[in-house]
Amino acid sequence: MINLFIDGKEVEVPEGSTVLQAAEKAGKKIPTLCFLKDINEIGACRVCLVEVEGARNLLASCVTPVSEGMKVLTNTPRVRRARKLQVELLLSNHEMNCPTCIRNGNCELKQVAEELGIREIRFNDGKKTTYSKDNSTPALIRDPGKCILCRRCVSVCSNVQTVEAIVPIGRGFDTVIAPSGLKNLADSPCVKCGQCVLVCPTGALTEKEYIEEVWAALDDPKKHVVVQTAPATRVA
Ligand code: FES
Repeated sequence: MINLFIDGKEVEVPEGSTVLQAAEKAGKKIPTLCFLKDINEIGACRVCLVEVEGARNLLASCVTPVSEGMKVLTNTPRVRRARKLQVELLLSNHEMNCPTCIRNGNCELKQVAEELGIREIRFNDGKKTTYSKDNSTPALIRDPGKCILCRRCVSVCSNVQTVEAIVPIGRGFDTVIAPSGLKNLADSPCVKCGQCVLVCPTGALTEKEYIEEVWAALDDPKKHVVVQTAPATRVA
């Protein structure tokens, strides 16, 4: 077992635990976005940064292992500033149609932004990526405009489902999560299992809503007749 201090509180955790797990045990909440226990532990989003005594840089708590006597600070002004910066950068390249987004109400990005008290985005005038929405399958919608590149979907698709339908393509700012060769999902090995939707923290991967099928049917004159006549038949 390892003993360490989280915001001055001593905790004991099994060797090999992360600072995030130790903080959880100490009752300290650290925001996370890319972290998905046992599936995606890659330290990509840097939202879970903490200060560790003796370390020059802030460290991502989700991938930093604990060590004996370690002293961790989870909520200093420096930590809060760094987390805010990370989330503002994500929001600066995020499609801001939150009121009409299907994830409005349970978007992890929005929740973390609220928790950090973000009220403005300092980098709104910067460059934005312009990948278009993939509406090619009857089941899923992939919207790169809402993707935060956390790679949870990539991990679940590759390591859990072993399908490998989506991968990171490109580098740095231009990275996009998409089927290889920037194909549409319909032309990829995607089996529409929906696991990527379950793990996506935002509205970047969503299920098509039943209502869309209803509207599509109403727009089709033949189906429109069926929809209209079915209740009358039942009454007769
Ligand atoms: Fe730790 Fe993303 S949650 S880096």
